Amino acid sequence: MAMQQVCILGSTGSIGRSTLDVLARHPGRLRVRTLSAHSRMEALAQQAHQHQAAIVIVPDDAARQRFLDAWPAGATLPRIHVGAQALCEAVSDPVVTTVMAAIVGAAGLPSVLAAARAGKRILLANKEALVAAGSLLMQAVRESGAELLPIDSEHNAIFQCLPPAGQVGAPSRPARGVRRLLLTASGGPFLKTPLAQLDDITPDQACAHPNWRMGRKISVDSATMVNKGLEVMEAHWLFAMPQDRIQVVIHPQSVVHSMVEYEDGSILAQMGQPDMRTPIAHGLGFPERIESGVGLMTLTQMGRLDFEAPDLDRFPCLALAFCALRSGQHACIAFNAANEVAVARFLAGRLRYTRIAGVISACLDHVQTCTTHALHTLEDILALDDAIRRFAASRCHPDA
Ligand SMILES: NC(=O)c1ccc[n+]([C@@H]2O[C@H](COP(=O)([O-])OP(=O)(O)OC[C@H]3O[C@@H](n4cnc5c(N)ncnc54)[C@H](OP(=O)(O)O)[C@@H]3O)[C@@H](O)[C@H]2O)c1
Repeated sequence: MAMQQVCILGSTGSIGRSTLDVLARHPGRLRVRTLSAHSRMEALAQQAHQHQAAIVIVPDDAARQRFLDAWPAGATLPRIHVGAQALCEAVSDPVVTTVMAAIVGAAGLPSVLAAARAGKRILLANKEALVAAGSLLMQAVRESGAELLPIDSEHNAIFQCLPPAGQVGAPSRPARGVRRLLLTASGGPFLKTPLAQLDDITPDQACAHPNWRMGRKISVDSATMVNKGLEVMEAHWLFAMPQDRIQVVIHPQSVVHSMVEYEDGSILAQMGQPDMRTPIAHGLGFPERIESGVGLMTLTQMGRLDFEAPDLDRFPCLALAFCALRSGQHACIAFNAANEVAVARFLAGRLRYTRIAGVISACLDHVQTCTTHALHTLEDILALDDAIRRFAASRCHPDA
């Protein structure tokens, strides 16, 4: 197989670091071309030096200086590109074959779209891009012949359980014979916490996921089940599946990563350790299987697998997500933007945990007044996203 030249956007994050771990196991087939980071310049310098990146991308001149300060004396510097536009240029680099899209939040959207338009193999971890711009992104994938491989563990599991003809590219209808997609959810750290205690949840408690080690934003999203809501939207676009044929199932052990139910009654599941290196290795090696560094799973020690329906009183954000998906793209953009604002406030200690759902709900009501806003281009989407963020900020009262 020809050498893949990989551009990792968001290399200092949880997914970015796991990607570098897998890459380092396969020097004969995978090489780092480009790395990007937003705030952790020392970590970026260390990664770029260790993996001999040709290009790094930093957000501004101050970050560039911090990168230079952290660079080992005497070592050959990579090219340093500055600014958000450089992310879009990096994915269009003719040398790059594969883009790992691992920036968190809607900030990742322009570069994912640019990678789709450039016809690259995209390993999609950033779910917010599909949530905000599913139609535009899937159209770009179809037109350019880009290859979109899901890295989110649930979607990667579904991808693995689908018939081959339903897997690759950007399908315009569900794979034949598939009745439903079953998305599993661990239920996060508060699955059994008395509802009365949720008001006092701290950011560190919300980020202490029982099974997965992830970045702080997605950890909070997992606790509220916003993450599962975003994943329902992601599955809708990735697999051309109507929302009433996507079901969420609580599975606290996080061993079954998701399932596909077929017309004949068969259910195919993908299982494995809760370690993102498995779906990352699947995407990097596809269609071959390559070593990921993930240990074996001992089924006999696991004992049991539990499944239950989600309690929507405990997880109101999940109900809001289905509501948004039924309402259409304006509402999905509002759901995501409101959540990003509310979670950032919560992580900064300026919003109560239980207010996150309230902020999202207020923005879903508000977006009804914006439905004449056209959504034909990336600029249209970013303008609505920005308007909702401003409205959400006005709803984030610290004492509410
Ligand atoms: N972690 C998981 O297990 C997991 C699983 C499935 C899907 N995902 C999805 O994968 C994406 C990344 O998640 P993560 O957990 O790896 O997040 P993370 O640990 O917070 O890392 C985010 C990365 O994005 C960079 N970044 C942050 N804000 C940015 C901005 N405005 N512009 C450009 N870059 C920015 C960060 O740079 P600095 O670190 O330098 O600030 C970091 O490299 C998310 O969309 C998440 O939903 C994650």
